[in-house]
Amino acid sequence: MPWDPDQYLKFKEQRFAPFADLCAFITKRDHLSVIDLGCGTGELTRRMADSLTASSVIGIDSSERMLEQTAAFATDGLSFSRRAVEEVNGSWDLVISNAVMQWVDDHNSLIPHLVSLVKPGGQLLVQVPSNEQNPSHASIRDIAAEEPFCSALNGWVRISPVLEIDAYAALLNRAGVGDIIAVEKIYCHQLPDADAVAEWTRGTTLIPYLERLSPELQERFLTRYRDRLRTYWPTGPVFYTFRRTFFGGIRSGKPCR
Ligand SMILES: C[S@@+](CC[C@H](N)C(=O)[O-])C[C@H]1O[C@@H](n2cnc3c(N)ncnc32)[C@H](O)[C@@H]1O
Repeated sequence: MPWDPDQYLKFKEQRFAPFADLCAFITKRDHLSVIDLGCGTGELTRRMADSLTASSVIGIDSSERMLEQTAAFATDGLSFSRRAVEEVNGSWDLVISNAVMQWVDDHNSLIPHLVSLVKPGGQLLVQVPSNEQNPSHASIRDIAAEEPFCSALNGWVRISPVLEIDAYAALLNRAGVGDIIAVEKIYCHQLPDADAVAEWTRGTTLIPYLERLSPELQERFLTRYRDRLRTYWPTGPVFYTFRRTFFGGIRSGKPCR
C-alpha cells in the first residue's frame, strides 16, 4: 500500500504546523543550497523555498505517489527527484527533514550520516513524531499482536526507531554539531471523534500494517482499531495530543567534551 497524498492531506493544517515550527529554526542567509529529505508532495518544500533568498533547493522522496504532486510546486530554484534518504550523498548548507526519519531505521547510524550531508558551518534541522505511547499508536501495535493479525503478519510489529530526545543531543555532539537544538513540543488537536483519529494514522502509521494484510483483514483490522479507539474516546470531540521531537544544529566539526 503506497503513500496516499489524499489520505495524508486530510489533516493538512495539523500536519503542516510542525514544519512551520521547524523552519523557524533556520539561520537564513542568501544563496543557500538546501535539501529537503522526504519532501512528500513538495508543498512545504515550496513554502520554505519561497521564504529563502536566491537559494537552490532540492526535495527528494522515495514515494512515486507523493512525488507526482511535486510538479505543481517546482520553480527555477526548486526541483524534486525520487531517491531514498539512505541513498543521498553530497553536501548542502541546509539539510532539513520533516516527519520522515521515523521511517528510517537505526538512528545511531542515521544521525552521523545526516550530519555528513551538511557543509561545514551549515545547518541540520529534523522533526520526527514521538507519539508512540499515545493510544492512537499503541493500539496499532497491540492489535497487530492479536489474532488473526499476528499470524497474518508473522508476528511483525513496527517499533519506531525514534530515540529519546537527549540521545539526539548526544549523537549530534559526537558528530561535531554545535548550537544544538533538541526540543519537544506537544501539539494539541481537536478531532471530531475517535474515527477521525483512525483516519489520521491511516495516512501514516497504519500504512505498513495494512499493506501486509489482505483486503479482508485490512477491514477487520480497521474495525477493531476504531472500536479500540472508542474505548479511549467514547464521545467527541477528541482532545488529541501529538508529541514531536525537533533536533539539529550547526556542523562545526568538533565535539565538545
Ligand atoms: C509523513 S510524510 C512527510 C512529508 C513531508 N516532509 C511533510 O512534512 O509533509 C513522510 C514522507 O517520507 C517519505 N519517506 C519515507 N521513508 C523514506 C525514505 N527512506 N527515503 C525517502 N523518503 C521517505 C514518504 O514517501 C513520505 O512522503
